[in-house]
Amino acid sequence: MTERLQRSDIDKAAGIVRRGDLLAFPTETVYGLGADATNSRAVAKVYEAKGRPSFNPLIIHVPSLEEAEKFGIFDAEAKALAQAFWPGALTLVVPMRDGGGVSDLVTAGLSSVAIRVPDLPLAQKLLARVGRPVAAPSANPSGLVSPTTAAHVLDGLEGRIDAVLDGGACSVGVESTIVGGTPLRLLRPGGIPREAIEACLGRNLELHDPGGTISAPGQLASHYAPSASVRLNAENTFEDETLLGFGHVEADWNLSPAGDLVEAAANLFAMLRDMDAAGVDTIAVSPVPNTGLGLAINDRLRRAAAPRAQ
Ligand code: TXA
Ligand code: MG
Repeated sequence: MTERLQRSDIDKAAGIVRRGDLLAFPTETVYGLGADATNSRAVAKVYEAKGRPSFNPLIIHVPSLEEAEKFGIFDAEAKALAQAFWPGALTLVVPMRDGGGVSDLVTAGLSSVAIRVPDLPLAQKLLARVGRPVAAPSANPSGLVSPTTAAHVLDGLEGRIDAVLDGGACSVGVESTIVGGTPLRLLRPGGIPREAIEACLGRNLELHDPGGTISAPGQLASHYAPSASVRLNAENTFEDETLLGFGHVEADWNLSPAGDLVEAAANLFAMLRDMDAAGVDTIAVSPVPNTGLGLAINDRLRRAAAPRAQ
């Protein structure tokens, strides 16, 4: 029921989005579940396929800043970030431009819109061929870890979406960094390190308090949950635990034996899935430094460790 498309099927993939159906597609961060952002019926199907609470707004994907400016209003700081990091793993939440034609279901009624220009050439080609903004949350059932391969997408959404475009494994492996608000704040740590954004702005970026009101509902407590329970900052393991290592530790699963945060981010979701598939009961995770991509890795791990919504 869910068709598996290869890189050479790019025209067919674009046609699926243009006719209002659902296509999972690769980006450099994670696979997205794409729909024509100007077609409310198509967007409604995204929420249905994911089983996602409807108050969660979606990111629109476009091929360039020039296209992005048709849908959002960029002040000087937002523009500087777009010029520095697009295409790439940064999402900017900016005031919506009237008349852009983006469905209200995409923004969940907010007056702002989240926009991203992905870097992966296959995603760029797809967006250029679709010729409309593509709304895409991560291509997983709501509340589960994001997919970094086409096989992960099918594990969660087989039969619930029309097709998946297989572009191999995602190189970044965690979702985009989200920045937005006035003044700009960090709404979600992700694939572009906070330090790089601060260096571009020439100031510190305040982290949005996840305990506060939900302006980026990706901040919901247990958003990235594997089935196993998770214990963080484990210096050692108890008898019923399996170690997810980082750095020079003895472990069947190690995010990066060399202690490389980029490698660790790329491995994170696939290893959580592998450990679930192996029937691991409790995952003990080695300490991961909170710098660079470590901020995003620790954010996802904290959510994986949070008490589950039933
Ligand atoms: O890397 C990524 O960002 C991936 C790929 C597919 O692009 N997408 C992704 O989307 O992670 P999703 O839907 O799983 O997370 C999008 C986040 C959510 O937390 C959502 O609430 C937030 O973006 N968001 C979207 N529009 C927003 C808005 N107008 N204001 C605040 N937050 C918004
Ligand atoms: Mg997600």
